Amino acid sequence: MRDPRESQLAQLPAPSAEALALSRQLLRQMAEEAEAGLLPFDRFMELALYAPGLGYYANGLRKFGEGGDFVTAPELSPLFGRCLARQLAEVLDQLGGAEVLEFGAGSGRLALDVLRELQQLGQLPRRYAILELSAPLRERQQALLREELPELMPRIRWLERLPQGFVGVMLANEVVDAMPVSRFRLQGSDPLAPPLEQYVDLRQDPPQGCWRPSQHPGLIGQLADLRQRYDLAEGYESELNLRANAWLSALGQALQAGLLLIIDYGYSGAEFYHPQRHQGSLICHYRQRVHTDPLLWPGLQDITANVNFTALAEAAYAAGFDSQAFTSQAYFLLANGIQQLIEPTDGRVRLQDLQAVKRLTLPNDMGERFKVLGLGKGLQQRPRGFDLMRYPLG
Ligand SMILES: C[S@@+](CC[C@H](N)C(=O)[O-])C[C@H]1O[C@@H](n2cnc3c(N)ncnc32)[C@H](O)[C@@H]1O
Repeated sequence: MRDPRESQLAQLPAPSAEALALSRQLLRQMAEEAEAGLLPFDRFMELALYAPGLGYYANGLRKFGEGGDFVTAPELSPLFGRCLARQLAEVLDQLGGAEVLEFGAGSGRLALDVLRELQQLGQLPRRYAILELSAPLRERQQALLREELPELMPRIRWLERLPQGFVGVMLANEVVDAMPVSRFRLQGSDPLAPPLEQYVDLRQDPPQGCWRPSQHPGLIGQLADLRQRYDLAEGYESELNLRANAWLSALGQALQAGLLLIIDYGYSGAEFYHPQRHQGSLICHYRQRVHTDPLLWPGLQDITANVNFTALAEAAYAAGFDSQAFTSQAYFLLANGIQQLIEPTDGRVRLQDLQAVKRLTLPNDMGERFKVLGLGKGLQQRPRGFDLMRYPLG
């Protein structure tokens, strides 16, 4: 029988010798850090994505768009950012003279489209701040915005850390899926039985990386809670995003009043930990192909985990947010009038717009896979993006 990793490898375009050398260097760095040759998966994922100069988001190789590994909604069409801007305008208006803070701005495309539309609507925020972990992406965002919107540069800032007393809208499109997650496997039927945490074994010479489950009492508390809420059988494997909880707790302190919009692919808790999803939700992107081996070529492929929106909403309440609303990307964009943004005159632009609206809203494309979670603090009105339909967060 063929090794599953070999079958996946055979279907992927081979990386260049230069790219492979970069990946081997990253594996050596991981092996040096690993205690007794083992790294917990969340640390492996963190280094694979963000190790300075070598990690996927830190090594300067092309990621976004047709020539990269994946296409996000802002890369697909400016209609996404323009429509989002309409939601932002409503909330900024309510808050009076507020700001925008975008996390993980990727190529800078979303910031560009949002700012252009807000300018058009006469509702520019006092400041548009970007908090980005990746140094090469920060440079790319600066180059794009300097080129396209030179007159707005005095309003745009790149931050190193969260501001305090922030009033306005915070935006995270496809950011939470890029946060490192812990991976576990349940053992025994007793909720208090110590689960196995998945480690990455780097003891080979040269290091290659393969799964190694190991007992980890540290996750017992969280997993006992999950086992009480959801029907998780012995052997069930999945992820926990503990970094997202810490992130929300910091945002709860930073936000004085306003809205945090999290847009990403994922599920409510009951769907995330559904018995059928017993192998977890990790997905990797490499040159427009999707596969499920996160240990392959660290630094050369994107590793992501679906988002558990119920867990985010609960962490947000604990952090002081006082309202929440949850819906699909399709309902959110339609409630903000994406159809009114389609070019009215027949021709190439109209065709492109129609095609983009289909991809962004159809249930079998991005419309239902992607969800929008709105977390508010001190807002008088529910944002209109949630008017058409609200999903339960059980
Ligand atoms: C999949 S990309 C999405 C980029 C962009 N938002 C888009 O939709 O095209 C993930 C981005 O999130 C950034 N990121 C991940 N964790 C972050 C965090 N805790 N704070 C800020 N940025 C983060 C990455 O550096 C990267 O720019």
